Amino acid sequence: MITLMWAMDVNKVIGNGQRLPWYYKEDMHYFKTHAYHKKALMGYQTYVSMLKYFPSGKLPFSDIYIASRNQTEIKNATVINDVKKFLDNCDEDIIVIGGAQIYKIAFDYAEALRITYVLKPHFGDTYFPKYSLKAFKLVEYETYPELIFTHYERIKK
Ligand SMILES: NC(=O)c1ccc[n+]([C@@H]2O[C@H](COP(=O)([O-])OP(=O)(O)OC[C@H]3O[C@@H](n4cnc5c(N)ncnc54)[C@H](OP(=O)(O)O)[C@@H]3O)[C@@H](O)[C@H]2O)c1
Repeated sequence: MITLMWAMDVNKVIGNGQRLPWYYKEDMHYFKTHAYHKKALMGYQTYVSMLKYFPSGKLPFSDIYIASRNQTEIKNATVINDVKKFLDNCDEDIIVIGGAQIYKIAFDYAEALRITYVLKPHFGDTYFPKYSLKAFKLVEYETYPELIFTHYERIKK
């Protein structure tokens, strides 16, 4: 099952200067709970940005898939040169953790979404791509003063 997970502000901003534009301890906790120790797919830019938070280079996922057309080998990770082909043939439980370029390709494959809505605007340079929730139903949510954590599942046909 493919799950996409992201946090975005009211203008769909997700990143700034290759970092998250915000720090919310509840959001970090949510990310740890739902992404750590899972199989994670991320784009090369997100990988580089995560290294700032994990300078040892050891990311906290059980398996790490990094999308890149330019890299051939990355320590402790599997390089994915064609994301679409990878997802077409994927029968594992994978959490897709960004960034914008990878969300854009992976959205159509998602069976579940974990969206954190950040309820105020932040300055940023990277936006979540255009998407629709029409094919999804909200199954769980939790509200905080500045955040809403949501879990959607794809509606079965
Ligand atoms: N708010 C959130 O939840 C959240 C989550 C994650 C990231 N972010 C933010 O998002 C930003 C990064 O997003 P981004 O869109 O710039 O980059 P990204 O999606 O993380 O990575 C883009 C890279 O993925 C590779 N790629 C793209 N399409 C591919 C394909 N079809 N097959 C194989 N590889 C492919 C390319 O790597 P090569 O250039 O090496 O070929 C490309 O440069 C950062 O600011 C980060 O902090 C936010």
